[in-house]
Amino acid sequence: MRTLCLSARDPETAARAAALLRAGELVGIPTETVYGLGADGLNEAAVARIFEAKGRPQDNPLILHIAGPEQLDGLCHDIPQAAWDLAERFWPGPLTMVLPCRDCVPRRTTAGLDTVAVRCPRTAVTREIIRLAGTPVAAPSANLSGKPSTTTARHVLHDLDGYIAAVVDDGPCAVGVESTIVDLSQGAPRLLRPGGISPEQLRAVLGSLTVDQAVTAPIAPGAVVRAPGMKYRHYAPQGQVLIVDGPRERAAAYIRRRFAPGDAVLCYEEELPLYAGCRPTAYGREDDPETLARGLFAALRDLDRADVKTIFARCPPAVGVGCAVRNRLAKAAGFHVISEAEL
Ligand code: TXA
Ligand code: MG
Repeated sequence: MRTLCLSARDPETAARAAALLRAGELVGIPTETVYGLGADGLNEAAVARIFEAKGRPQDNPLILHIAGPEQLDGLCHDIPQAAWDLAERFWPGPLTMVLPCRDCVPRRTTAGLDTVAVRCPRTAVTREIIRLAGTPVAAPSANLSGKPSTTTARHVLHDLDGYIAAVVDDGPCAVGVESTIVDLSQGAPRLLRPGGISPEQLRAVLGSLTVDQAVTAPIAPGAVVRAPGMKYRHYAPQGQVLIVDGPRERAAAYIRRRFAPGDAVLCYEEELPLYAGCRPTAYGREDDPETLARGLFAALRDLDRADVKTIFARCPPAVGVGCAVRNRLAKAAGFHVISEAEL
């Protein structure tokens, strides 16, 4: 199959992408978080092709993308007021809500769960595609399973060229890490995955929020997890990632002492001069954590290609969007962190 690359600026793109989705094809769609691998979320056969193209485990459910909150009622039942409050405050935007699902949603989409994850993305062309397709669009991140998520159309083609009908190119993603996932299906709201909306922003609307332990610690083999995707080794470049915390100069001294040929350093722009000779890659600015979120996956992809052994990574504190950056890096690192006390 030849994969078409459609520009989001072309006025015919939304209709072409929508027609492909209606025909059961796979289309790479831009969102403000990461690129998605879209299919008609109510078409079992189309959804099955997502799992095939990505090499995704069958027990990992998909997020349904909708054009607006008015579509929520048709897909979910027993929607609590908190969900409407969150939708009003954060949609369209990088927030996914898990809610009890109606029978119209195929079991393939939900991987057999009685809940479904729903999100309304901010990217205008994608909401237009969903509206024209006339169906919610199931879309995991558009990467091969286990690889870092994709934040440009070029990344999508790198992983999936020839396996999908088209990709819609809307430039680099504005947020760069995946959406925040909140489970509202079982009483007290629970954070399953930090993302573009911070826990602080959620608490301002919800009052309280429980953070699932899968966010901050490795999952024991065989444990039951609320977000099935959390148990897989995600965002993993081929090299071993090691997070080094602590003040700039002391962390740099530690890393320079241990650096061996074949290793690399993932750091802040402000730190580049400290790592001359240590193959440094900057993924954003320490004084502007949103740039770190935007640059993280592209940097991990670059390091993946370079066949690196150990990646020493500098990582922001788990505050604001830093919470998502830290979660992704910690998972890539298998939660290996050198703390300030160990420097
Ligand atoms: O920003 C995003 O959310 C991107 C863009 C494309 O929208 N999508 C995304 O999808 O990150 P994916 O499939 O890579 O991650 C979805 C996560 C997985 O960890 C999955 O297990 C979890 O959402 N999930 C999906 N449905 C769920 C459900 N009913 N209950 C709990 N977790 C669910
Ligand atoms: Mg993913």
